[in-house]
Parts: sequence; structure tokens; C-alpha cells
Amino acid sequence: MGNTSPLSVGIVGAGRVGAALGAALAAAGHQIIAASGRSAASRTRIAELLPTAAVRPAEEVAAGTRLVIVSVPDDALTPLIADLAEAGALGPDQIVAHTSGAHGLGALAPAVVAGAGPLALHPAMTFTGTRLDLDRLRSGVSFGVTAPVDLRAFATRIVADLGGAVEWIPEERRALYHAALAHGSNHLVTLVNEAMDRLRDAGVTDPARVLDPLLHAALDNTLRLGDAALTGPVSRGDAGTVARHLADLGASAPESVPAYLALARRTADRAVAAGRLLPADAEQLLDVLAHNRLAHNRLAHDCEEATA
Ligand SMILES: NC(=O)c1ccc[n+]([C@@H]2O[C@H](COP(=O)([O-])OP(=O)(O)OC[C@H]3O[C@@H](n4cnc5c(N)ncnc54)[C@H](OP(=O)(O)O)[C@@H]3O)[C@@H](O)[C@H]2O)c1
Repeated sequence: MGNTSPLSVGIVGAGRVGAALGAALAAAGHQIIAASGRSAASRTRIAELLPTAAVRPAEEVAAGTRLVIVSVPDDALTPLIADLAEAGALGPDQIVAHTSGAHGLGALAPAVVAGAGPLALHPAMTFTGTRLDLDRLRSGVSFGVTAPVDLRAFATRIVADLGGAVEWIPEERRALYHAALAHGSNHLVTLVNEAMDRLRDAGVTDPARVLDPLLHAALDNTLRLGDAALTGPVSRGDAGTVARHLADLGASAPESVPAYLALARRTADRAVAAGRLLPADAEQLLDVLAHNRLAHNRLAHDCEEATA
């Protein structure tokens, strides 16, 4: 596996990720032989990002290529690998890599039975399926990789060709790894949208402009400093301010209250654990949060009863 000669590559599922990774592998000198995709969007991505690839059904894409990248929706992965193996499209001298974060090598078991080498190769990045992704890959993306020991050098080479860095994820930790990424990136989207909505409620005309420098600084500080980056009323144990936040949120956007309460509680716990907030200073704040949680649960219960 120490060989660095170009590989023949098949892309099963020229979706956002498959097409972008294929284009990046082509830029690194590999040969993208074929790609699959039935929708107009997949066909357009193949034409734009994988011009050397023949458009073929999945079994034909997989058969005969050294590296098969399978990049399909998570729920489609396991049955598709079983179908490809049953159709005789996978065998020895092939490496089959999927790009799912939540799945590990288990999803590739039928490929292994057929003699192929398995890789779980998840780019920790959000993809558009356009050339924008290539710039992001070039600037360095981490890949959560699960691989048998004898394929680790191969995986490292592929990730390096994609301009990335390897993070080895044990098979039994794939779901945890993926939960952490989803929590951080997907829930961040919700959090920022919530903040923009509440700013609009407060009369702010351009919430994105207000949040842009603040949130970039908070993210940057957190990635460098961890819990030490925390500022704001929870870090100061400022129970009165948090109580006023909850009163106004409850009046104008009660749907925002549970998430605010849960995050404030978790923020307080982390601040105490990190020594940013003394337990004695946290007491009044924790009381405010507990009192509001009870009041909110009661209100939600009453509303449910009234509409039942
Ligand atoms: N999107 C991201 O930002 C991102 C980031 C990292 C990892 N991932 C992972 O990468 C994988 C692909 O995600 P994606 O966002 O690229 O998906 P996507 O844009 O929806 O593309 C999915 C591709 O799979 C094909 N496909 C769907 N069902 C299939 C089946 N049963 N058999 C064969 N091909 C099938 C689709 O082809 P048709 O044209 O025929 O529908 C399409 O080309 C997922 O495991 C996802 O979790 C995604």
C-alpha cells in the first residue's frame, strides 16, 4: 500500500460530497473512471466536477476500479453495499471507502466478505457540491477515519491527497464522533438563527451585521481557549440579568425558552467545573434556571391540556 501511483477511482453517488472528493482526487492526479447518479443534480455535478467520468449504474462504477468511493445518504449505505457485493461488483484488490460520519466499517461488511478493503472516510466539512468545496478542501479539512491497521497508510495517503489531516476514530466511537460534529455545526445554525430572530424582535434591522464580529470572536476564542473563553451573565453568576432574559423571552418568544434554559444550565455547569464560576456564586443563578424550568413545564402542560 506504500505505492503512490495514480489510482483508478469510481464514485458511487455523485452527490455533494462524492463529486467534490472525486474532483479533489482528480486534481491530485488520480483517474476518475466513472460515477453514478440518476438525478439531474448528480448529472450536472458529474459534468462540471468529474468531466473524465463515464456516467454508469452503481455496479458498473464499482466493478474494476481500485478505489470505490461510496457517498450516498446514510440510510442507503448498508443496503447498497450489500447489493454491490451480491452483484459481484466488489472484490480483492479494491478499497471501498464510504464518507458517512455515523457509520463505521460495519456498513462495509459485505464488501469485506467479497475480499475488498474497507475504509470509513468522513470529511468534517459541510459540502455544496460545487467548486467552492475544492477551495475548502485545499485549505485543510480533518477526516474522521476508521480503518483496519493494514489500510492505515493507504487512508493517510488518500487524505493527504485531499489536502486533509487524519483523525483516527475507533469503530465503536463513530456515532459519538458524528454526534459531536452535528451538535457543534448543525445546532450552531439553529442557535445563530434563534439569535437573529430575537434581535429582529428587539428592533435590530441588521442582525447578521450585529452578530458577525461578536460570534466570530466567540468562536475563535473558544477554539483557542476552551471554557476560558466564556463571558456574559452566566460566567458572572448574574442571576438578575438571566431572570430578566427569561421573562422577556417568555413573553415574546416562549418557543426559545427551553433551549435557552438548557444551554444556560449547561454553561453554568461547565463554568463551575472550569473554575470560572464559584459554586456559591452559581447558587442563585441555578435557582432562577430551576424555577423558570418548572414554570415553563407547567405552562407547556397547561397548554397541552387546553388543546387536548
Ligand atoms: N453534505 C455534507 O456536507 C456532508 C459532509 C460530510 C459527510 N457527508 C456524508 O456523505 C454522504 C453523502 O452525502 P451528500 O450530502 O453528498 O448526499 P447527496 O448530495 O444527497 O447525494 C447523494 C448521492 O447518492 C446517490 N444515491 C442516493 N441513494 C442512492 C442509492 N440507493 N444507490 C445509489 N446511489 C444513491 C444520489 O444519486 P441520485 O442523483 O440518483 O439521487 C446522489 O448522487 C452521507 O453519508 C453524508 O452523511 C455529507
